[in-house]
Amino acid sequence: MPSVVVVGSQWGDEGKGKATDQLGDRVDLCVRYSGGNNAGHTLVVGGEKFVMHLLPSGILNPGTTTVLGNGVVIDLDVLAEELEMLASRGVDVPHPLISANAHIITEYHRVIDKVTERFLGKRRIGTTGRGVGPAYSDKVNRMGIRVQDLFDESILRQKVEAALDQKNQLLVKVYNRRPIEADEVVASLLAHAESIRPHVIDCGRFINDALDRGEVVLFEGAQAHHLDVDHGTYPYVTSSNPIAAGACTGAGVGPTRIDRSIGIAKAYTTRVGEGPFPTELLDDNGERLRQAGGEFGATTGRPRRCGWFDAVLVEQATKLNGFTDIFLTKLDILSGWETIPVCVAYDVDGVRHDHMPITQSEFHHAKPIYEELPGWTEDISGCRTFDELPANCQAYVRRLEELIGCRISGIGVGPGREQSVVINDLI
Ligand code: GDP
Ligand code: IMO
Ligand code: MG
Repeated sequence: MPSVVVVGSQWGDEGKGKATDQLGDRVDLCVRYSGGNNAGHTLVVGGEKFVMHLLPSGILNPGTTTVLGNGVVIDLDVLAEELEMLASRGVDVPHPLISANAHIITEYHRVIDKVTERFLGKRRIGTTGRGVGPAYSDKVNRMGIRVQDLFDESILRQKVEAALDQKNQLLVKVYNRRPIEADEVVASLLAHAESIRPHVIDCGRFINDALDRGEVVLFEGAQAHHLDVDHGTYPYVTSSNPIAAGACTGAGVGPTRIDRSIGIAKAYTTRVGEGPFPTELLDDNGERLRQAGGEFGATTGRPRRCGWFDAVLVEQATKLNGFTDIFLTKLDILSGWETIPVCVAYDVDGVRHDHMPITQSEFHHAKPIYEELPGWTEDISGCRTFDELPANCQAYVRRLEELIGCRISGIGVGPGREQSVVINDLI
């Protein structure tokens, strides 16, 4: 049975949540492998909208077991709130399983994320302010708090005190803030210990055993290729590895165990936060895309920056993630344009680049070279087969396939679980 990884191919918010949820009834295990509650994954089921920040998007499918892998950073308050939110809406879901090695986002990570951004001023990254970057920094710096630390109070206390010895210097002396009390942090973490204890697993072994039994495993990416700390538009990136390879480190599986890599690509481009964006539209066309697509952040509510489809970006993501298939989302939003520009290459200081330039400083100067494709006027939200799409819409899809070098196996024509055109089965 297959295992698949779902990865954002642009700068996030491509519709990974919908794609994951939609595959759900065929998925035994749905595993988040990176990021934290900086993500906002929207699912629309039976006309009802749910936004998951931390819970895997497979959670609404009754037959799916969900896992937060070791590569995820977990804010325990958010985990509890999301489960409560579902319960209060009458949705009864099993608690996700949690890797004992996953790191925890604490109060001091959230505070440091926010004060650092304020301190950076014009040079800020535009983070989601959820403490994700500082939690990953501590992980790499070998001073993080892991889920397993919750079950030994004296170890937990030692680790929190050691971290705060350093953080409080930073908060007080550099940022002029009040220090954070270790007792309060320890108490707030311990408050969750008993409720999560029964769900803590050896994630790598659990997933590999499931694969050995022939179960279908879906690794759900958060963020996206171009927000990857190694491969994205650094420093305007997140602090983890959302790429397909991140599923190996972030869940504990070898690369030979992942059969398919599915890139999620929006039919145009959006970005939240700072950083270069060659096809960004700062005019009325950008506003038209934003309004038509409802492009406001699912996590922070910030208006998303909008622009035309950038085939150079998605081709790069296709190569580096080994995409076997692309799921193209929000094609319905492009109805009604006379022509639709698609970026096929960049002009960098008079030199044509068919691929991403090697350096960020070149990328900052990249001007899009567009190909104009004919638009269509029909509402396509009711289409369910490729043949039902208007001819120009089909041609748009076919041209994107050529430009990005990957087959498009599914198309989103609306936010609803059922609003998709399936060309090739993804599982
Ligand atoms: P994610 O972070 O990649 O899961 O994406 P978000 O949930 O942040 O943003 C995607 C938005 O587009 C959500 O509001 C979805 O409900 C919506 N969406 C997803 N696919 C489609 C689609 O094919 N058409 C339309 N109109 N909306 C979609
Ligand atoms: P999903 O999974 C879009 C962006 C932030 C900021 C940068 C770093 O919903 O696609 P961070 O808080 O991670 O340190 O912020 O990354 N960012 C996202 N943008 N979608 C996301 O997640 C994002 N997660 C982080 O806006 O520019
Ligand atoms: Mg999102």
